[in-house]
Amino acid sequence: MAVQSERIAIVTGANNGIGFETTVGMAEAGYHVVMACRSQHKAEAAKADVMKGVPSASLDVIQLELSDLASVRAFTEAFRSRYSRLDVLINNAGILLYSTETNGDGVELQFATNHLGHFLLTALLFDMIPDDPASRIVALSSLGHKGADIHFDDLSCGGDGGVAYGQSKLACLLFGDELDRRLRAAGRETKALSVHPGGSESGLFQNVAPGQLAEMKAQVEQFLHSPEEAAKPTQHAALSPDVEGGDYYGPIGPQEMSGEVGNATRDPITEDAEIAKRLWGLSETMTDQAFSV
Ligand SMILES: NC(=O)c1ccc[n+]([C@@H]2O[C@H](COP(=O)([O-])OP(=O)(O)OC[C@H]3O[C@@H](n4cnc5c(N)ncnc54)[C@H](OP(=O)(O)O)[C@@H]3O)[C@@H](O)[C@H]2O)c1
Repeated sequence: MAVQSERIAIVTGANNGIGFETTVGMAEAGYHVVMACRSQHKAEAAKADVMKGVPSASLDVIQLELSDLASVRAFTEAFRSRYSRLDVLINNAGILLYSTETNGDGVELQFATNHLGHFLLTALLFDMIPDDPASRIVALSSLGHKGADIHFDDLSCGGDGGVAYGQSKLACLLFGDELDRRLRAAGRETKALSVHPGGSESGLFQNVAPGQLAEMKAQVEQFLHSPEEAAKPTQHAALSPDVEGGDYYGPIGPQEMSGEVGNATRDPITEDAEIAKRLWGLSETMTDQAFSV
């Protein structure tokens, strides 16, 4: 449990890859970090690994399965029972599938996990976030949002898992943007920002068939960076005093896959606020949760 003066962050998917490195960075910055992970066992092991590198780290683990709305609700109840505020919410967890899978409600699994679970999580925790410029909500998008669309009439994207991944990551960015617009309209100081990590070898590619993975890697291998580097855009969005709500950060080196953190390029579809508004309404309906800012 955090001491009262500590600032509190939640990192979803904190046990691996970019989420793990984000947890290290937030702990080093003095935050008490709640590691929101679907596997208690993996989370406890990751917590021990963080402690090895950052012995002063203040960490907690609460189980969260983002593809299951009941689990998201249970997570927020457990969080509320332990804490009275939340300073930084990092919606990091994600999956990439090249197959058609659905959650228990029949919703395409990447949309359910990467977007809907985080939408509900944010809605349920929003009232615990202080109205303060250091308070942040960070969305993890991807270079893969480019060329994507929200397939309102068929969220399964005709069964094409690759297209559905792009859709889910576009949804994360549109949600971050729309949240920012609503925060500004309400005169709130909390910042909603989005980032992408560039390209990094992590657990994200565990579901990709070996042949396809080798093909993907051959095209981009020289541009990839480590999860530690890939976590820097997130840490910048979460911690820097020099950011604005609505900003979108990523690495600005070759092909935006690696390099220093800077302003990331966007697909023009993200300028269409009507799509973001429609996605917000759909997300409220699908989660059965009104979200007013
Ligand atoms: N790596 C890249 O090149 C890249 C590029 C663009 C965007 N991203 C984004 O970066 C974020 C982090 O990905 P990563 O590369 O660090 O991948 P990763 O190593 O696979 O980590 C993903 C994390 O999300 C968790 N997770 C997956 N499904 C979940 C669920 N249903 N409920 C709760 N947690 C769940 C994973 O838990 P388990 O360990 O239990 O599976 C893991 O902790 C993702 O949003 C991804 O889309 C990554």
